[in-house]
Amino acid sequence: MHIKTASLNGVLTIEIARPEKKNALTVAMYQAMADALRAAAADAAVRAVLITGQPGIFTSGNDIEDFMARPPGQGGSDSSGSPVFQFMRALLECDKPVVAAVTGAAIGIGTTMLLHCDFVFVADDARLAMPFVGLGLVPEFGSSLLVPQLMGHRRAAEKLLLGDPFTAEQAMECGIANAVLPATEVASHARRVAERFNALPPGAVRESKRLMREHQRAEILETVATEGEIFARRLRSPEAVEAFQAFFQKRAPDFGRFQ
Ligand code: COA
Repeated sequence: MHIKTASLNGVLTIEIARPEKKNALTVAMYQAMADALRAAAADAAVRAVLITGQPGIFTSGNDIEDFMARPPGQGGSDSSGSPVFQFMRALLECDKPVVAAVTGAAIGIGTTMLLHCDFVFVADDARLAMPFVGLGLVPEFGSSLLVPQLMGHRRAAEKLLLGDPFTAEQAMECGIANAVLPATEVASHARRVAERFNALPPGAVRESKRLMREHQRAEILETVATEGEIFARRLRSPEAVEAFQAFFQKRAPDFGRFQ
């Protein structure tokens, strides 16, 4: 299984473990993560959730082969029921603290999921990117709303329109990450922070997290739905097909023929 879960000392760890494909996320992996988040929310013994990747790779984002073979909303079905949307919803609805430990690359949803975590610790080797436009796609998981809010339109345009990658230091400066740590210390530091919730009253933590999120909840859900509709349509666009083919053919995409 490419998603490993373990519950230890009040912390449910969700480990993305598909290093041979740089932890690219398949439909099955989204479903497993959604199920794990929901199980964590329902289990009184779990006080916090920790999301980690593998040494040197958090995740390279959605599996591009899956994008082509099993795009959400395929065949006119409602994309909001697809595993990726279930994962998004489960993370948005998780009322227990979620801590992310990021080493190496965090691409696409690898970065946008961090916008919904409560604590984000990044290794000094981390490289974040949201290269949706270069893939013929649009921002997802509320990033078209939250990234400009976090850092202002100009800096968001670098990351969302140009798809420029950014460093751990920059992730901290622009408010995506709490702290930058040596790669070997990120996981243990993140676990220590998650375990601190064992000593705090869980009801107060839950209600506080809800209060912190509640005022923007409807707006985020609406943005996720709107982005999702456009994203699903764009997955079938000739621009996206060219970008995906170029990725697997290990060449630069050529968008010169598009208007
Ligand atoms: N989907 C499907 N397969 C992926 C993948 C993805 N998102 N990311 C990596 N892989 C696969 C590669 O095709 C390659 O497979 P192969 O060994 O069968 O050829 C393998 O994982 C290793 O990837 P590779 O690109 O050779 O590793 P790298 O160290 O040179 O680069 C990345 C790592 C993460 C920078 C690079 O793989 C990458 O840019 N991936 C795509 C990121 C992306 O655009 N994601 C979608 C965001 S919406």
